[in-house]
Amino acid sequence: MTSVHGANPLRDAADRRLPRIAGPSGLVIFGVTGDLSRKKLMPAVYDLANRGLLPPGFSLVGFARREWQDEDFTKVVHDAVKEHARTPFREEVWQQLIQGMRFVQGTFDDDDAFERLRGTIEELDKAQGTGGNFAFYLSVPPKSFPVVIQQLKKHGLADQTEGSWRRAVIEKPFGHDLRSAEELNAIVHEVFAPDQVFRIDHYLGKETVQNILALRFANQMFEPIWNRSFVDHVQITMAEDIGIGGRAGYYDGIGAARDVIQNHLLQLMALTAMEEPASFDADALAAEKTKVLGAVRLPRDLGRGTVFAQYTAGWQGGEKAVGYLQEEGIDPASKTDTYAAIKLGIDNRRWAGVPFYLRTGKRLGRRVTEIAVVFQRAPHSPFDTTATEELGQNAVVIRVQPDEGVTVRFGSKVPGTSMEIRDVSMDFAYGESFTESSPEAYERLILDVLLGDSNLFPRTEEVELSWKILDPIEEHWDGHGRPAQYPAGTWGPVEADEMLERDGRSWRRP
Ligand SMILES: NC(=O)c1ccc[n+]([C@@H]2O[C@H](COP(=O)([O-])OP(=O)(O)OC[C@H]3O[C@@H](n4cnc5c(N)ncnc54)[C@H](OP(=O)(O)O)[C@@H]3O)[C@@H](O)[C@H]2O)c1
Repeated sequence: MTSVHGANPLRDAADRRLPRIAGPSGLVIFGVTGDLSRKKLMPAVYDLANRGLLPPGFSLVGFARREWQDEDFTKVVHDAVKEHARTPFREEVWQQLIQGMRFVQGTFDDDDAFERLRGTIEELDKAQGTGGNFAFYLSVPPKSFPVVIQQLKKHGLADQTEGSWRRAVIEKPFGHDLRSAEELNAIVHEVFAPDQVFRIDHYLGKETVQNILALRFANQMFEPIWNRSFVDHVQITMAEDIGIGGRAGYYDGIGAARDVIQNHLLQLMALTAMEEPASFDADALAAEKTKVLGAVRLPRDLGRGTVFAQYTAGWQGGEKAVGYLQEEGIDPASKTDTYAAIKLGIDNRRWAGVPFYLRTGKRLGRRVTEIAVVFQRAPHSPFDTTATEELGQNAVVIRVQPDEGVTVRFGSKVPGTSMEIRDVSMDFAYGESFTESSPEAYERLILDVLLGDSNLFPRTEEVELSWKILDPIEEHWDGHGRPAQYPAGTWGPVEADEMLERDGRSWRRP
């Protein structure tokens, strides 16, 4: 132990358990009248303020084309917070927050509006002490990312003066394919340095996703078997029970693989498969994710190793659901995938020969996201085959949402006089083990932006590598007939079941 006179390394090191509070700063949201802003961003800002994680003079500037005054904007934020915030409404927090709320009216090509924005920021620096530190959140249609970035440059809003910072937060999707992602990266990096850019993949803000790292690298019992010697295969699923709702304009022409696999599922795969980073800092983490994404191998036969499909009419939760092609606003000849399943390999010593099956879809049986690491069967069984007829393969299942937690599945003796072994599961549930409730992903991500912590944001290389994986698959689907079909409310097309059956495996029914 150190003496009271000597340095105490424990006390001198930054205590990571203390809440990380953002320094003087403000957030400008472009597209502030949009769905994402109302449902996620405004409530997240309030929840951060309510938890005492924002500085006293924190400022929130909304930019949109509606003819609103500051008061109209404040009312919209108020209503969004009341409806969607995670934490209780407290008048004193709200009163402090509205001191720094401003609205700037204009379209993205309106130079005067960007000059007014510059003036507003200067005014807030004086009135609220924001110190010139501003993050610009582009919650706007992807086609508008370039114009907003260029306007920020043109009006000097991206310039960082000595001791202050400017950051850009860019929503998904980041590009439509590799070429468009490279073009967008070129535009962004002409204006902002890499450490000023925060690309959102909100899955990385989820507690359960960060827990993949804790599970693997803070424990001793998983990592020794987390490789080709013990793992049979990995299944990563993001299933939605809803259809496309009112998002026809966004979804048609994009589809399930671009919307979900390119970002969320490949990031989950990278975290599940990557090597242990040298430290938990952003560079080390990105280096390992990049390495594993760079080692991904596509199926030799894309026709047999991938499936794309569309939902047809069916039943969901006791209600009739129309097929995708009958949804309002969808081209009846559309080939857009509402379901995608892909088998990938990873060409490295740890994973050679282990398939990673990724699937996502709308109008599936249940809303669930999970990573299932399925283990090989024991190499030898001293039991009668009749004793183990009902024994499946061992598995570690990370439940990303809902019912967040981890399940370990293994065989156990059924009570009785005979030897019969059946699958049982051991469960860790966030709700039961912790009293703290999990923050929303956007709370964590906005706070990280204000702190300049880029751990949970995919970098240029990761985004481009993900498109490199997806592009040949999308091209193959473009050139090969119509998508397969599955009735709404089921677990996807038979073609996807057959894809796994050919490998002697089957999809989990979560
Ligand atoms: N919604 C989600 O759950 C979700 C999930 C993941 C990612 N995202 C991404 O987040 C971003 C925002 O999504 P969203 O659903 O909120 O979109 P949205 O509801 O369509 O909102 C778009 C916003 O941009 C504004 N806007 C569009 N064109 C403009 C222009 N020329 N000048 C000024 N303002 C303009 C709109 O203003 P008006 O109100 O005046 O039209 C609106 O505030 C998109 O990049 C999307 O891909 C959304």
